[in-house]
Amino acid sequence: MNSSGSKSNMENLSPFNDFNASAEERFNILADKMSGMSSDVGNSAEFCLLPKDMQKLDDLFLKLKIKKEKFMGYQVNHAFDYSELYRFLGFSINNVGDPFMESNYGVNTKEFERDVLDFFADLMHIRKEDFWGYVTNGGTAGNMFSLYLAREIYPDGIVYFSKDTHYSIPKSVRVCNMEYRIVDSQPNGEIDYSDLEKKLQENRNRPSIIVANIGTTMTGAVDKVSKIHQILEANSLKKFHIHCDAAMGGMLLPFLEDAPQFDFRMPISSMAISGHKMIGAPVPCGIVLTKKELVQRIERPIEYIGAVDNTLSGSRNGLSPLFLWYAVKKLGNKGFKALAKRSVRNATYALSKFQEIGWDAWINPNANVVVLKRPSEELVKKWQLAVYGEIAHIYAMGHVSEKMIDEFTADLQKTI
Ligand SMILES: Cc1ncc(COP(=O)(O)O)c(C=O)c1O
Repeated sequence: MNSSGSKSNMENLSPFNDFNASAEERFNILADKMSGMSSDVGNSAEFCLLPKDMQKLDDLFLKLKIKKEKFMGYQVNHAFDYSELYRFLGFSINNVGDPFMESNYGVNTKEFERDVLDFFADLMHIRKEDFWGYVTNGGTAGNMFSLYLAREIYPDGIVYFSKDTHYSIPKSVRVCNMEYRIVDSQPNGEIDYSDLEKKLQENRNRPSIIVANIGTTMTGAVDKVSKIHQILEANSLKKFHIHCDAAMGGMLLPFLEDAPQFDFRMPISSMAISGHKMIGAPVPCGIVLTKKELVQRIERPIEYIGAVDNTLSGSRNGLSPLFLWYAVKKLGNKGFKALAKRSVRNATYALSKFQEIGWDAWINPNANVVVLKRPSEELVKKWQLAVYGEIAHIYAMGHVSEKMIDEFTADLQKTI
C-alpha cells in the first residue's frame, strides 16, 4: 500500500513501490516505463547502445559501488535511499526563475522547493515573511550568489575571508571582480580575529563584506559570528554584509548542544548550505538564504520565462528540491539531530582509534572531521582522502561506520 493508501494510486505506481524489489530491479522497471515515453527517434532500433557500451555502464556501476565502500575523505553522505522518487526521473523538471513565483514552465517542483526553504528558514531563525532563498546546485553556487548580492548592495565593498576559506570564495570574488583581503587563520583553522580587525581598520571608509566559515573544509573550525560582529561594533563599522559559508556546519551545528550561533538572529545577510553533505543526495545540491529586502536589488522580470530572474543559473535542477523535501519530511529535526550526533560520535571514535595506535590526530569542538598526519599515498587513494600538505582528514559522514573506521585504522597501523 502506498503512503496515501489509495488502491487506484497503488495500482498506477506499484512497479515503483514494490519494496521487495531491489533498487536495481526497480531501476529496470523504471527504464521499461520510460522507454514508452521516448520519441520515435529514441525508440528506433538504429539508436541503441552497443553491447560494449552497455558493458561500460555495468563496469561504471560496479566501480561506483566499490568506491563508495571506502569513502572517508569528503563531506558527502552516501547513506540515503530515494528509491520512492525514481519515477520522477521520467520528467525534465526545471525550476527556472524565482522559486516563489510560478513560471510558464509548468514541469517544476517549486511548491516542494518552497517547503524545503521554509524548513531552512525555521532552522536558521528567519521569519517566512522576511526571507528569500533557493535550492542551488551546491555550496559553491550559494557562496557565489551571496557575494554577487553583496557586491550589488555594496559595489565599493571589500571582501574579507581567512586563509582557511574554501576555494569557492576566492573564485567567487574573481568572478564578481571584487576587491578582497585574506585574513590570517589560527592554528585550528579559525579566523584570526585580531588580523581581521587590523585589516578592517585599514579600510574603515569602505563597506565590509565578511565571510564566516561555519566549518572550514579542512579542519571544521567555526569562525564566530558574535566575535566578528563585536569587532564591527567596536570600530563603528556600520556598512557590512556578513555571509556565512555553512556548507557543512549548516546541517550540523544547529543540531548539537552548545554549538556557536550563526543564524539570522545575528546580523548576518546571507548563508549557503550544501544539501549533499550532511543530508546526502545523489546529485550535488544546496540552499542559499538571504533577506527578501536584499534580493529585491537584483531582480529582473523576464517575459520569456514568465517569472522574475534572481537566481544565478537560469534553468534550475528541479530534482534536488524533491530529494531535499523527501529527506526533510522523512527525517525532520529529530532525524537530523540523530544524524549530527552520530556523525560527531563517530569522529570522536575515529580520533580515539588513531590515538590508540599512536597516529597524530586531533579534532575541533563540535566537528565531525578528524585531522590526521598525512598517510601514505596508497592509503590516500584507497580511502579517497582529502590532503593538504602534511595533513589529511576523514569526515565521519552518515555512511561512515565504526567498522569502516576500524578497517582504516588497521590499514594505518600496517604502515607504522
Ligand atoms: C566550507 C565549504 N564551503 C563551500 C564548499 C563547496 O561546496 P560544494 O562542493 O557543495 O560546491 C565546501 C565543500 O567542500 C566547503 O567545505
